[in-house]
Amino acid sequence: MSTPMTAPAAGSNSPIETTFRARTQGSADRAANAKRIFPSGLVHDARRMWPYPLYVERAASSHKWDVDGNEYIDYYGGHGALILGHGHPRVLQAVHEQLELGTHYAAGHDLEIRWGERIQALVPCAERLRFTSSGTEANLLALRLARAFTGRNRIVRFRGHFHGWQDHVAFGVDSHFDGTPSPGVLDGIAEQVLLADAHDEAGTRALLEANDDIAAVILEPTGGSFGAVPLRDSMLSMLREVTRARGSVLIFDEVVTGFRVAPGGAQAHFGVTPDMATFAKIVAGGLPGGCITGAKDILDLLDFDVSQALGREKIVHHGTYNANPVCAASGLAALSVIEREDVCAIASERARQLRGGINDVLVESGVAWACYGSHSAFYFYTGGESGGVDPANFDPFDWPLEAIKACSGTSAAKKLRLALLNGGVDISGKLGGLTSGVHTDDDVGRTIEAMRAAVLALKDEGELN
Ligand SMILES: Cc1ncc(COP(=O)(O)O)c(C=O)c1O
Repeated sequence: MSTPMTAPAAGSNSPIETTFRARTQGSADRAANAKRIFPSGLVHDARRMWPYPLYVERAASSHKWDVDGNEYIDYYGGHGALILGHGHPRVLQAVHEQLELGTHYAAGHDLEIRWGERIQALVPCAERLRFTSSGTEANLLALRLARAFTGRNRIVRFRGHFHGWQDHVAFGVDSHFDGTPSPGVLDGIAEQVLLADAHDEAGTRALLEANDDIAAVILEPTGGSFGAVPLRDSMLSMLREVTRARGSVLIFDEVVTGFRVAPGGAQAHFGVTPDMATFAKIVAGGLPGGCITGAKDILDLLDFDVSQALGREKIVHHGTYNANPVCAASGLAALSVIEREDVCAIASERARQLRGGINDVLVESGVAWACYGSHSAFYFYTGGESGGVDPANFDPFDWPLEAIKACSGTSAAKKLRLALLNGGVDISGKLGGLTSGVHTDDDVGRTIEAMRAAVLALKDEGELN
């Protein structure tokens, strides 16, 4: 069950599509070529786009340029990795210097220690940490450690929360909400995963209290897809209390929220310290990299000496590129900037301005959509299949996961994305975006104007009442 794409019919006579095609012939050519190499022409499922994806040639700060020379304000932000924007001078300098010194020593090096120290200093739960190469790997390791630590098998996670693509987390995100495995995932793995409803605190508590075999609860601490499907703060404290009482390991997936919601991540912002937290994206300054952090007694399962002293088997973990010196240089430089400057607060403020300005446009234009989100995120609720909303009084907690997810699949949503690209603004297919610490007032103003033009274009095509 892949997500259907309700794209407007080919030759639909859409001026929005015609304009997009006329501006992006270079992308069209490359997309056709890519289909001869990659399934769907893609290297990442989330980059699927109607009628074809954009091909980008260069990027700087908050902007990027496609192969046809069109300039865009970038709210895709390297899938969330770029809170410092593209090519931050401190990160670039650190990476350039390290490239000259070597890219892989197959040995320890100073940068990995300094990078680890910065993470320890910023992240409340980071008594110990271990680097990985991605967020998917970090979550895989965290779940393995939780199982070994507790001697239990079951994992609780929330419908709609994304934790990467490995087997334990590859269903119940966009489909398979009943917990059945997606193709290729073993029944035996899916049977060990219990899916909870993030809007149902009492039901989640009951689930945890009814099962004695839960190794871990893993979640995105601001809600699914960085708060596109939001979570109430009280859920975090309830989970902390119940997992502690019942001996389950609480894992925050901070792959997106880490060093973004606050320098110390969502756990620092909400004042709830999990037993383990996973990071990627910003942690490596926009290069590949990730890590797990957590309580010493859990991460001691990776320690040769402690394991031997306790007479237990050490948990295996490798990874050729873990903390390689180039990614370490990039991550250390990025975290040093985030620690000293107001990057997270600026990014959150820019998103607040965007949400407000876009909702003003929707109200003025009488469009029953809403722009919502928290921290440095903004998302469009387009009514999906379920009807209109009042942009001035929209509360995403009123809408079920399925309704929010359905929004990005409609013809109007696809055209909104193209209309914004025509106006020089790139958002993601989730129908929303992320701001950075380098987006400017001017970027925000131009984005709101692009939204105004997009609404007019959509009205002209009869997509909006
Ligand atoms: C919350 C969350 N967890 C995990 C991942 C997986 O990280 P990676 O793409 O580095 O494997 C992502 C990626 O988008 C994510 O958003």
